[in-house]
Amino acid sequence: MSEKLVTLTIEGIEVSVPQGTLIVDAAKQVGVYVPVFCYHPKLDPVGMCRMCLVEIGRPRRDRETGDFARDERGEPIVEFAPNPETACTTQVGEGWVVRATSERALAGQKEVVEYLLTSHPLDCPICDKGGECPLQELTMDFGAGKSRFLYEDKIHLAKAVPLGELIYLDRERCIQCARCVRFQEEIVGDPVLSFEQRGRRLQIVTYSDPGFDSYFSGNTTDVCPVGALTTADFRFEARPWELKAAASICSHCPVGCNTVLNTRRQAKAGGHIEVQRVMPRQHEAVNEIWLCDKGRFAHHYAGSRERLRVPLLREEDELKQVAWEEALKNGADGLKAAGGSVVGLASGRASNEDLFHFRSLVEGLGGQAFLYDAMGGGDAVQKVGMAPGSNLAALGKGDAILVVAADLHEEAPIWWLRVKQAAERGAALIVIAARPTRLDAYAQQQIRTPYGDTVRTLLSVAHAARGRKDRAGSAQGDLKAAAKTLAEAENLVVFYGAEGLDTAGSTALAQACAALLVETGHSGKVHNGLIPVWPRANTQGAWELGLRPADDLAGALGAAEAVVLLAADPAGDEAALAAALEEVPFVVALELFETPSVRQADVVLPAQSYIEREGTFTSGERRVQRFFPAVPALGETRPDWRILAELGARLGIELERKSPALVMRRISESLPAFEGISYQGLSRIEAQWPAVGGEDLYFGGTAYANVQGLGIQLALAGGGSEGSVEGAEAGTAAARKGDLLLVPIVRLYDRGRTVMASDVLHPRLASAELILHPEDAERLNAVDGIELELGWDGGKIRAPVRVSAVAPAGAVLAPRSMGFQVPRPVMVEARVPVLQDG
Ligand code: SF4
Ligand code: SF4
Ligand code: FES
Repeated sequence: MSEKLVTLTIEGIEVSVPQGTLIVDAAKQVGVYVPVFCYHPKLDPVGMCRMCLVEIGRPRRDRETGDFARDERGEPIVEFAPNPETACTTQVGEGWVVRATSERALAGQKEVVEYLLTSHPLDCPICDKGGECPLQELTMDFGAGKSRFLYEDKIHLAKAVPLGELIYLDRERCIQCARCVRFQEEIVGDPVLSFEQRGRRLQIVTYSDPGFDSYFSGNTTDVCPVGALTTADFRFEARPWELKAAASICSHCPVGCNTVLNTRRQAKAGGHIEVQRVMPRQHEAVNEIWLCDKGRFAHHYAGSRERLRVPLLREEDELKQVAWEEALKNGADGLKAAGGSVVGLASGRASNEDLFHFRSLVEGLGGQAFLYDAMGGGDAVQKVGMAPGSNLAALGKGDAILVVAADLHEEAPIWWLRVKQAAERGAALIVIAARPTRLDAYAQQQIRTPYGDTVRTLLSVAHAARGRKDRAGSAQGDLKAAAKTLAEAENLVVFYGAEGLDTAGSTALAQACAALLVETGHSGKVHNGLIPVWPRANTQGAWELGLRPADDLAGALGAAEAVVLLAADPAGDEAALAAALEEVPFVVALELFETPSVRQADVVLPAQSYIEREGTFTSGERRVQRFFPAVPALGETRPDWRILAELGARLGIELERKSPALVMRRISESLPAFEGISYQGLSRIEAQWPAVGGEDLYFGGTAYANVQGLGIQLALAGGGSEGSVEGAEAGTAAARKGDLLLVPIVRLYDRGRTVMASDVLHPRLASAELILHPEDAERLNAVDGIELELGWDGGKIRAPVRVSAVAPAGAVLAPRSMGFQVPRPVMVEARVPVLQDG
């Protein structure tokens, strides 16, 4: 939008706004209420509903001079159009006068509401939107109170039409505003909804198979200004005014989307208070007002009744319920007896406060605390990550984004959305990957590189970017062109993932990306930096707090006298680790569920999930954000940080026990990156545009306004410099013997515990399959649906094949968390087992 300001008067208030601003937005900025239905500040205006009618007066111009014509008092002569006009499709003009509450404007608005209600079912008492419905609100404000239309003429249409498994359409309630259709087309690029038929029979249909095939479908229920779209999860579960709202952070991926957890006491849950729905909370620099459907629907695991509720102690090969005191005493005694030979394993599912205490306890005992998420490079991110104040929404023409070895659509959908939007605004997007992903469609350049060559390819780009000879190796594509684009970009953001890479490989990749950023002058600057696509919500937090993955985890476990597990399930993830854990004399597990590792533990300490307690996560963009308790603690569970402090107290290691805010104070006192960070500071808010929630439901939808805090992006370590990594190679298993490289990939709806607890997602689960290139399939005599057996040192899996050129030749793609263990890229022997007759 132009920086030239235009001054006009709206309801007698003079306002100056950038040229190109719509009258509806200008009115909102000065607090003038112009009702809307089809307009949404995140969507292009269409002028479909006519709800926003206002009177517009334009100053008459002197034909000779072009100046405003003036009356005898010297005032500009303003001429009003004969009919009200739509404020949502009209851009402001210099000297205009807008009347939003004049008799004519109100009469127009009233007629529109009257017309909309001619075929509306008026089932507010049973409608999910009742209580937060713009149509209800605007009917109260502008409705006629009495209709001139005949009741018999009402059109009756189908109710509860499933658009897909997650979203239902009530055709009678639809006011044909097309916000849902436009959201799918304009915002997320999944044009799976459309209108069918004409006139009053116009209705929303889905054209995809399966229906409403989009990872962002839930957002349409927020932007729909009536109760026409509802989610399968929340439909008929509660009325909005019965719900309590707790601010939270999504726990599924490193984006750190801001949410609100709406809760209510539920009769069918035995009178327990439960999360009824997850709603977006506005953070324009993180998730704007959107959520992906995993964040919205995969919340049931946290409140699952299958959770561990009481402490357990192993007695004669069985885990028996004990009191906390006994469990803690036994835990502390066992750790003490290990005499410093203690290994701690913690994942990025835990909060910053948990992880700080975890490391303090394990190292206080003389042991080693490791990060359990097998991806490297968090230290490079500490140096050249996103600089404080950065916002992906600021990227556009002249900027560049590089995405390497990650499938953002599956791994971090809201980043996918924001990268796509930056590309649509003109940012040059370059994708380097071994296989196609959905981001390719928005990329200026796609560079295919075999698994095992990712780091070399990146180094070639980095070298070329600083003017060196291109050492392209086996990579295809124009690396020089990519290097030029990246080097010349005003701002550069690099996302790196770990597909096809082990921990060493992803570490090398991160360093190569960091070198690229540094050498092209894109580090330490706002809107620039490295973003890791971590497997968990708080993996970056773990790195910030000093945890690192082990080089040889099985070896470390094998040598330990005692192991402490925090939100880590090595026994469930890999047979070799299960065997190593089996040999450890003493295991303490802090967990939510009875995992295979818990079944091998000596002391089990039941932890609270993030919905029951306070804490902070650090996103991949290094933004520390608070989450708050939404429901009472389940059973006897306690927060991990407090359990660890209680163990510490019995071992002479003094850890903060009073509150997570005080743990954060200690973190801020001991780690430079957290200097000055407090819970109070994390709760700072500022006005955001567009206005959403509360009284602005009609304007921006049912997203929640952010009144609980925008968090803080951590300062960069060492001012954003990182050395070069010449010669670093991918740490894949390419050199080992075998037929095929088995590569774990990520699917958003996997069959892991966090997804499976949400029944509503079951019809959308990804297939448990091994994806094989046609050439490899032919060689192995494998066809679609046939079982393939893959074996490697310490592992074996068997699953049905899908033959597709999506898999590069020589690789077999295996989705993670699908019921078979695929811990890391590894060379495998592949065979189609011969079926025995009979
Ligand atoms: Fe508008 Fe809702 Fe109808 Fe979609 S379903 S056109 S958002 S009223
Ligand atoms: Fe949650 Fe990630 Fe989806 Fe955001 S993008 S809602 S953080 S899973
Ligand atoms: Fe302006 Fe619909 S025409 S809000």
